[in-house]
Amino acid sequence: MATGSGSGGTPARELFGSKWGFVLAAVGSAVGLGNMWRFSYVAAEGGGAAFVILYVIMVLLLGIPLMLSELVVGRKTHLSPIGALRELGGRGWALLGGLFVLVGFLILSYYSVIAGWTMRFALESAMTGFPGDPGQHFGEIAAGPAAMGWHLAFMVLTIGIVMVGVQKGIERAAMVLMPTLFVIVIGLAFWAATLEGAGAGYAYYLTPDLSELMNPNVIRQAASQAFFSLSLGMGAMLTFASYLARDEDLNEQAVTISFADFAVAFTAGLVVFPVIFALGLQDSVGESTVGALFIALPGAFEAMGGPGRVVGVLFFVALAVGAITSAISLLEVVTSSIIDEFGIARKNAAIMMGILIAIFGLASAHNTDVLGLVDQIAGELLLAVGALSMAIFVGWRMKDPGAEMLRGAGPRFTGAVPAVLFLVKWLLPPVIAVVVWFQIWATRDAITGFFGAA
Ligand code: PHE
Repeated sequence: MATGSGSGGTPARELFGSKWGFVLAAVGSAVGLGNMWRFSYVAAEGGGAAFVILYVIMVLLLGIPLMLSELVVGRKTHLSPIGALRELGGRGWALLGGLFVLVGFLILSYYSVIAGWTMRFALESAMTGFPGDPGQHFGEIAAGPAAMGWHLAFMVLTIGIVMVGVQKGIERAAMVLMPTLFVIVIGLAFWAATLEGAGAGYAYYLTPDLSELMNPNVIRQAASQAFFSLSLGMGAMLTFASYLARDEDLNEQAVTISFADFAVAFTAGLVVFPVIFALGLQDSVGESTVGALFIALPGAFEAMGGPGRVVGVLFFVALAVGAITSAISLLEVVTSSIIDEFGIARKNAAIMMGILIAIFGLASAHNTDVLGLVDQIAGELLLAVGALSMAIFVGWRMKDPGAEMLRGAGPRFTGAVPAVLFLVKWLLPPVIAVVVWFQIWATRDAITGFFGAA
């Protein structure tokens, strides 16, 4: 087993066994419900292609520099977020690590509920098909005892993998699951191209309505989607990089991970939009509820008869696979911090924290309004706050982040490092501050709406 010792004086730390193990685990964290479920409905809300253009800009300008920032802090210290930020920034910055742990806790609590729906749908598609009216069906299964049961089952799976460790658990799971997901999603995209009426879906997805490009709401959504989908702003990439040997090219990895994540989201759009337009179900996706995809797609699959059943299984299995590798990274942020801060054994830390998260998540499984609210608070607002703080930390507080970016960097990237540092220092803080500002208002509305409705 590869081990190493951090400069923080931790005893031997388990490392990823190979470069591809790390890359696939990080891609596994990035690729998840965010790429298929969230990307599709946010893109639908944001006018399709216009959103996709803004999203690409956000990934390039904000996503990749932030990803590199997190990787640099993790690898330099070989510590989990709280310890890493304390070592490089002093006590006050350790609080940011604490925020990361909290955000990981909150996101996983509802992420697991959605993943539970996904697993249930995969099974239903295989066994019975989707009965009756898909909207009504979703309404019946989204909240309540069954949703709680599936949520708990998904948490057990996640705990089981994290408990085993970095190489044997996380790395091994990613090496098997991620290629499976790629194959399924690409296969589905080819199949979707054969549908009659797919053209309208492509047209919506790929022809931009340029007026939407300046819509502040769509810009905010694109930025937040980039943070969520790339797993940025809560220390997941930082934590994974803390298990990385010293000699890898972090620049190349930041680009590879971000590109792979975008490629999966884009390809998922090539499945979702043709399917939905071919069956005339576009309205149900634009409604922007968390359930949109879970209503429109089963409806579409059902309408296709036998072949729809097969496609349904494949689609929901891919979604569940993406969800599990992302959930692993969320639990790992929490677990590794508990291990490092309190010296608790991995197994106990994973089980203990996993159980607490599972219990907290019961509220989201009981009521989808709670799920939506926690998503707005943690998945939108707090991730943006985390991303902003991280940019300020690496741009202004950390000593010589450029040196760590250059360590192991190939000739292709050495020239880019000063430009990336410039972005982290001068572009990211003001731009993300604006995103945070909009998210504060969106969160205020969500809270008022929640208590108004309750
Ligand atoms: N990136 C994951 C997805 O797209 C979600 C996630 C967010 C995972 C933040 C870890 C941290 O589904």
